[in-house]
Amino acid sequence: MSAKASTPNRWVITQPTSFDHRSQTRWTKFATRSFSVVVAALFAILTTFLLSFHDSSLIANTLKFERNLYTPVFDHTKQALLTRCARITATPGPSASFLARDKSDRYEKGTNATLIRNAVIFTGKDDGQQIIHGDLLLDKGIVRGIGKISPRVIDSIKNLKEIDVNGAWVTPGLVDLHTHMGVLSTPILSGAVDFDSAKGPILPWLRSVDGLNTHDESYELALAGGVTSVQVLPGGSNAIGGQSFMVKLRKTKDRTASSMIIEPPETLVIPRGDDDDDAAFATHHWRHMKQACGESTRVHGNRMDTMWSLRVAYTEAIKMKAAQDEFCAKAENGLWDLINTPFPEDLKWEALVDVLRGKVKVSTHCSEAVDLDAMARLSNEFKFPIASLHSASEAWLVPSLVRKFYGSVPPSVALSATNHRGKKETYRGSEFASRVLSDHDVPIILKSDHPVVNSRYLLYEAQQAHYYGLPPNVALAAVTSSPAAAAGLLHRIGVLEEGSDADVVLWDSHPLRVGATPQKVWVDGILQIPVPSKTGEETHVVIGRGKEADEWKRKPYVPDWEQERNQSIRWDGLPPLRGRETEDRIAFINVKQVWKRVLDGEVHEAFTAESTEEGLQLGMVVVEAGKLSCLGVDCGDLVGNAEVIDLRGGVVSSGLMTYGSPLGIEEIASEPSTGDGTTFNAFETDVPRVLDDTGAVVRAVDGLIFGTRNALIAYKSGVTFATSSLAKPVQVGGPEAQIICGLSVTFRTGSGHAMERGALIQEVVALHVAIGKSHPLLKGVSVSTQIAGLRRLLYGWESSEKETGHWFKQAAEGIVPLVIDVDSADIMANLILLKIDVEDKIGAQMRMVFSGAAEAHLLAQEISNARIGVILNPIRAVPTVWDQRRILPGPPLSNDTTLVKLLDKGVIVGMGIRHAWQAQTTRFDVQWASFESNKRVSEQQAYALVTHDLENLLGIRNMGEDSDLVVWEGGSMFDMSSKAIGVISPIKGTVELF
Ligand SMILES: *[C@@H]1O[C@H](CO)[C@@H](O)[C@H](O)[C@H]1NC(C)=O
Ligand SMILES: *[C@@H]1O[C@H](CO)[C@@H](O)[C@H](O)[C@H]1NC(C)=O
Repeated sequence: MSAKASTPNRWVITQPTSFDHRSQTRWTKFATRSFSVVVAALFAILTTFLLSFHDSSLIANTLKFERNLYTPVFDHTKQALLTRCARITATPGPSASFLARDKSDRYEKGTNATLIRNAVIFTGKDDGQQIIHGDLLLDKGIVRGIGKISPRVIDSIKNLKEIDVNGAWVTPGLVDLHTHMGVLSTPILSGAVDFDSAKGPILPWLRSVDGLNTHDESYELALAGGVTSVQVLPGGSNAIGGQSFMVKLRKTKDRTASSMIIEPPETLVIPRGDDDDDAAFATHHWRHMKQACGESTRVHGNRMDTMWSLRVAYTEAIKMKAAQDEFCAKAENGLWDLINTPFPEDLKWEALVDVLRGKVKVSTHCSEAVDLDAMARLSNEFKFPIASLHSASEAWLVPSLVRKFYGSVPPSVALSATNHRGKKETYRGSEFASRVLSDHDVPIILKSDHPVVNSRYLLYEAQQAHYYGLPPNVALAAVTSSPAAAAGLLHRIGVLEEGSDADVVLWDSHPLRVGATPQKVWVDGILQIPVPSKTGEETHVVIGRGKEADEWKRKPYVPDWEQERNQSIRWDGLPPLRGRETEDRIAFINVKQVWKRVLDGEVHEAFTAESTEEGLQLGMVVVEAGKLSCLGVDCGDLVGNAEVIDLRGGVVSSGLMTYGSPLGIEEIASEPSTGDGTTFNAFETDVPRVLDDTGAVVRAVDGLIFGTRNALIAYKSGVTFATSSLAKPVQVGGPEAQIICGLSVTFRTGSGHAMERGALIQEVVALHVAIGKSHPLLKGVSVSTQIAGLRRLLYGWESSEKETGHWFKQAAEGIVPLVIDVDSADIMANLILLKIDVEDKIGAQMRMVFSGAAEAHLLAQEISNARIGVILNPIRAVPTVWDQRRILPGPPLSNDTTLVKLLDKGVIVGMGIRHAWQAQTTRFDVQWASFESNKRVSEQQAYALVTHDLENLLGIRNMGEDSDLVVWEGGSMFDMSSKAIGVISPIKGTVELF
């Protein structure tokens, strides 16, 4: 049965007006129009009502009256108007019997049932506290049974596929409430950037689904991370960016954008086929909307302008709503004689009217206290609820304000775990924010902002938030039930209970352990991961090797951060990050291991606690004036008059290095005045005469700033030194990539200024260029031009009296490494050929390094033969731009990762990051690399990616015994139970205690 819906003929009665607060409401204009127009309009409205509202009685009416559409049926018109009046005030949401359904409207015929036996099921219910040990039965797109399932039910199901998971963790499919998937697709191409309209700032009539690319590669990648549903939000440059949609990421049989929408609102007229399920169209569904304020809307004016434009827009909507209410009051009281206008409506404002009627889950992107305060006023002035506050970096500093928004339920706050400080408005963001808000009973959501952070790693957000103090149940709810609730979809997604959608993830470890990877993912009961083969052959990918021990099924212990948290609140989000420095004797006791550098710079075990009959024989480390004076089981008298610090099974190990981001070159990425500023791109602009240098080669050391928050936070996270060049990460909306990126510098992240002892580790490290990676939205210099320029410089055609000639000569002769940011295998192949040519000509061996290197796995052998090193940046590749599209995604999509492929061929590999805030989680990213390899890369090998091997590739002088040692309490660098509590600095002669 189907009602064939055509596009409603609303244009007859409501032509969109431009956004103008002085314009009259539509219906008052109609009053002056001729009678015939009114009659025509009434018929048009009738058609509209009948065809665009799909509750079952209306569908029946539609069918009955379809034939007579053009015969006046006034009683029916009245009935339709009354139905409509009742409908506009109805609250959206599922019917009371929704969970009693025996089939999902999203069920696809031919899907077999699945029984998952012996699982530990996180259901998402009960504030994330409910864990059920038992079975899970998926049938007809829904959860048919959970826990102990009656054999009668099981026996009644045909073609049941049964799997025993032996106590593995199962969660609902993850829900990412903040993404731009499909409207800012992967790889980014200018033809598919549909996430922001330039016609703002008020655009409630736009719909993200109108730009939803069904071929975005990130869908499959996100599914591989267990993400099954996402909100597709327009970008944040408009105060009202448009209507957003909640979609599922699986490929549907229809392969359309519409069929991805979980619960299409009635206002979206979707063409229906004969076998479409009426249930999908029968209930009254929530709508979704994106608002923003603060920095991101500045293209249309400042903060004051943004709030004014919002108030004007809501005033229009209020007028329309009042007109409708007045109309309906007359109709409901039978005062038909007093009705001389059509039903008041306007396609431009209808969505905002629904916001005012509380029928829209509004996602609001506002960050600072001033912005949140303005939004709280707006919601109270116009009396509409806001469902979620996104990227609300300062919400944790004003938790009571969150409760002052209009409505009985406070908005949820959707945050990133560690992506902070990139803008002025996120400068006071904190890794402790989610815990603080949760302590104030504010519902917490963790989100990716894909493609800002790859949605595939949404669960990693929960893992990090948990590490920094968010309770485990809240952390898991923050990526399942909490976002589902904020989207009004808790009856279907984000939870596992009888009747909910069969979106399920089976994990290879406890989901809060770093590196947790889906073994299987179902959406609507259909297996998505492992990816069904298109050729019919079975694909099998090894997942979770090395996680067989029972401990992997238990949640990780995490450190206590109470002191840091309180300190952060006290300092309004900017706590001092320096520790207490001392030259005094310190004795660290209960030490499990010590890892030190030996002469060649490699890091080796210098001490390991031995297991004895009485248990582990822990050791001690005594430090005086920053130098180790004793290391062993018993340091005797030395401990006596020392300050004693209990490491509780902790570890002392060599500090890590970070490379690849502008750490130390900028404080706030989006604020040029806080950093080095813009350099000259010699391929595009004339280099100023004062430089007298063709290539404008400059030194990062000259622009270096110490004490940036990103550097100090990295330092406090065990990353004691950094190498930075002047390369900037390519960003949509940012400038074209620099081609010649200058000379890098290596510095101590914990130092106060350049003249402090040990602050500068190496003033000139390597020469950096970036080839390819042209900005997808700008017309850059061609790759062939870039390589021609590079060839010319390496051949020595520029005078070596000048900076450019000098440094490229050094690079050609292999005196300094030439680090090339490059992702495309084709470009890498050309660079390998260029290297061979240059070496032939110059007669020396170049030290070439590829950084980025997303497609390096395609050339692993050739790269190895050419003795080129590789810095994987990022280490878990993302195909953001075309040059990176052929990534090797790793489990559960492929056995191998690029790291494994390169190490197998004997290539020396390091790890890099793109953004300075990412330095904080270096140790977790290294751990990921080891797990992703299915333990073919040991933890010690992974350690070398950010120490010895990375230093070697960049040509950093071996610091040997002089290098900093990090003191970890409660475990090793590789345990989530540990945190860095101090740094031993032999060169400074101090210990810094945090
Ligand atoms: C469902 O199960 C039947 C019987 O085992 C099998 O023939 C069929 O291919 C299965 N369908 C799918 C979609 O896997
Ligand atoms: C992955 O590795 C396993 C075990 O070595 C092998 O059986 C399987 O075929 C591999 N899968 C793919 C897709 O290469």
